[in-house]
Amino acid sequence: MSQSATSGDCLHYIDGEWTDGNGSETFSSVNPATGETLATFRRGTADDVDDALEAAEDAFEEWRALSYIDRAEYLWEIYHELRDRHEELGATVSKECGKEISEGKAEVTEAWHMVEWAAANARHPHGDVVPSEVASKDAYMRRKPRGVVGCITPWNFPVAVPFWQMAIALVEGNTIVWKPAEQTPWCAQIVAEMMDDAGIPEGVFNVVQGYGAAGAAIVEDARVDTVQFTGSADVGHEIAGKVGGEPGKLAACEMGGKNGIIVTEEADLDIAVHAAVMSSFKTTGQRCVSSERLIVHEDVYDEFKARFVEIAADVAVGDPLEEDTFMGPAIEAGHVEKIREHNELAVEEGADVLVDRFELGDEEIPEGHDAGHWVGPFVYEIEYDTDLRCLKEECFGPHVALLEYSGDIDRALEIHNDTPYGLAGAIISEDYRHLNRFRDRAEIGLAYANLPCIGAEVQLPFGGAKKSGNGYPSARESIEAVTERTAWTLNNSKEIEMAQGLSADITTTDS
Ligand code: UN1
Repeated sequence: MSQSATSGDCLHYIDGEWTDGNGSETFSSVNPATGETLATFRRGTADDVDDALEAAEDAFEEWRALSYIDRAEYLWEIYHELRDRHEELGATVSKECGKEISEGKAEVTEAWHMVEWAAANARHPHGDVVPSEVASKDAYMRRKPRGVVGCITPWNFPVAVPFWQMAIALVEGNTIVWKPAEQTPWCAQIVAEMMDDAGIPEGVFNVVQGYGAAGAAIVEDARVDTVQFTGSADVGHEIAGKVGGEPGKLAACEMGGKNGIIVTEEADLDIAVHAAVMSSFKTTGQRCVSSERLIVHEDVYDEFKARFVEIAADVAVGDPLEEDTFMGPAIEAGHVEKIREHNELAVEEGADVLVDRFELGDEEIPEGHDAGHWVGPFVYEIEYDTDLRCLKEECFGPHVALLEYSGDIDRALEIHNDTPYGLAGAIISEDYRHLNRFRDRAEIGLAYANLPCIGAEVQLPFGGAKKSGNGYPSARESIEAVTERTAWTLNNSKEIEMAQGLSADITTTDS
């Protein structure tokens, strides 16, 4: 786990070595709750990405030649290390990205679940035996690794999402060049140390720390066969557009949402309020699955509103390392400004503000944490109108609209589906007809009933519809993004017989 290079900074990990890289610039990881610098990192350049891609390309043939089970052995090492270091890593996640400690630890758990899924899948059947029209033919579907996979991961899940992207790609036989979010390089450093500790062969896993330019160098390079990206819609669509124009290259993108929860006239309001508070404010609203719209039937609206507002006004914002904190800080000052702009936009568009804790009182800010990026819940009600930008644009913060509806479940669905995104959503109702209608008609990839719309388990497909992505990341679906399928047909006969009644006779002018 030791770093052998000369600088005091944390280094890139390329071709099995810790390296300063080619550039001279550095950047720091900053604790968003205190403003304290946690560590300093080398800022990667296009040349560093070039070195990493060369290493990944060189390592590919040997890595793909191992059996699935041998490749998975490296991942099992990491699985055990993640479990053994649960408390410590959970605290590191909380310190670096500000999520409260139970979430920091849950994230590490989510990471080992993904590693467990990927490594265990090595022993499961891969592909299908497919019948042929011709009795003497055997047909199979087999998979091959695509090659070099470029991974670009976000700050809000700095340990779990990297493993969503990398664990399956590695077990399937690909090699990796990873650019982690610049806000959470320390978590990435620990993941890289784990790969090194596990003895993963040189060049199979590479990490270049840095900013967007390093990510762009990965996206643009012809040696990259698949780009996996989780992050903002703007960047994701740019990547998908660029990569989509390059034959043979594929982009798997998971982006944000403007997620909604429908509370029907038949809702159990205890469940509704509980699910809505968790979905809106956990992780300080900084999950791509967080809800920013609560669509509530008129019969239960007043009671729901009163109960939701009472909790939003009181929910505990504070030091992420304290167990009684519900919401930690926002990730950085620029993000606080972005949240402010979304709150202001809602007001400009006619919102009636019910809770405004954007500026927290001095007494709410934990001692010694004045430099943190504090922000509390912002709750508003507004009459639904398809032209309102505040109901369509993702804030990625504790910012949520209450929308009253009258009529049936289809009216609620019309409002629910009226966003360019389609990631996650929930319905709260005791009427199974409402639930099933939502299941079938909500335009989303992750649908929940009588639950929050956050907290998906790794063995489910994770991904969205519309602007939210193409649904590859996480578990089984991501195999599609990192492998090629081969339809393999073998003839057991000495004769050639074709399907579809196609003649196998060869006629010549002589005959
Ligand atoms: C994200 O919000 O960016 O479903 C990922 C969840 C987590 C993953 C969220 N398992 O809330």
